[in-house]
Amino acid sequence: MNLIFLGAPGAGKGTQAEVVCEHLSIPAISTGNIIREALKSGTEMGLKAKAFIEAGKLVPDDVVIGIIKDRLSESDCQNGFVLDGFPRTIPQAEALDAMGIQIDKVIDIEVSDEKIVARMSGRRVCADCGSSYHLLYNKPSVEGVCDKCGKDLVQRKDDVPEVVLDRLHVYHEQTEPLKDYYAKTGKLCIVEGQEEVADTTALTLKALEE
Ligand code: AP5
Repeated sequence: MNLIFLGAPGAGKGTQAEVVCEHLSIPAISTGNIIREALKSGTEMGLKAKAFIEAGKLVPDDVVIGIIKDRLSESDCQNGFVLDGFPRTIPQAEALDAMGIQIDKVIDIEVSDEKIVARMSGRRVCADCGSSYHLLYNKPSVEGVCDKCGKDLVQRKDDVPEVVLDRLHVYHEQTEPLKDYYAKTGKLCIVEGQEEVADTTALTLKALEE
């Protein structure tokens, strides 16, 4: 199955993408994670993206389209994949179509801006492996420590409230029009994000079966 997860920043698409990938044994491809990894390793692409990502702006389309083209040509994508955070603009969606990639479903996780701003201040991520937690809704077993690799949990620079508001603005302007784009193909499934992660997961898995 080839899937796209859409949604505002912090709506929970990364969390859901991870669960679905495990369920279907297919890779999750998060452009955000790929860019943050490049930033950490100091590659040319990472340096180019740094200012955009830290200001809550989108990285230029050509950079992100190049990343996806390379990643989708890898052998583990042959039996399906979940795109988490791509496409995020109409030109990115058109580029995906031009690659001849058939998408089976587009899952859009809907959460209000007010809930997102409150939620994001509680997110903590592993400084090493990038796993995501929440101070209230998805706590690690030991406070401040990653369950998966034992490294410290930190707050992302773009999760501070001012930057979250910028990211939401960018989302409404540039990414939200993708809902119409995919509604026209009949592949869009709306999932109302719930207070508990497990409740959202149940709705996501139901949407995939329909
Ligand atoms: P990216 O990493 O993709 O960030 P994002 O879309 O802003 O999404 P997030 O990871 O912040 O949120 P999410 O919806 O995945 O939420 P999560 O599951 O973590 O991109 C970062 C940056 O990279 C962009 O700003 C841009 O600069 C650049 N970029 C990436 N892709 C790009 C592209 N295609 N084009 C251009 N630029 C690109 O959940 C959030 C928190 O809530 C977590 O703490 C989680 O535990 C908690 N939570 C999740 N579900 C629930 C629930 N149901 N109830 C309570 N809490 C929950």
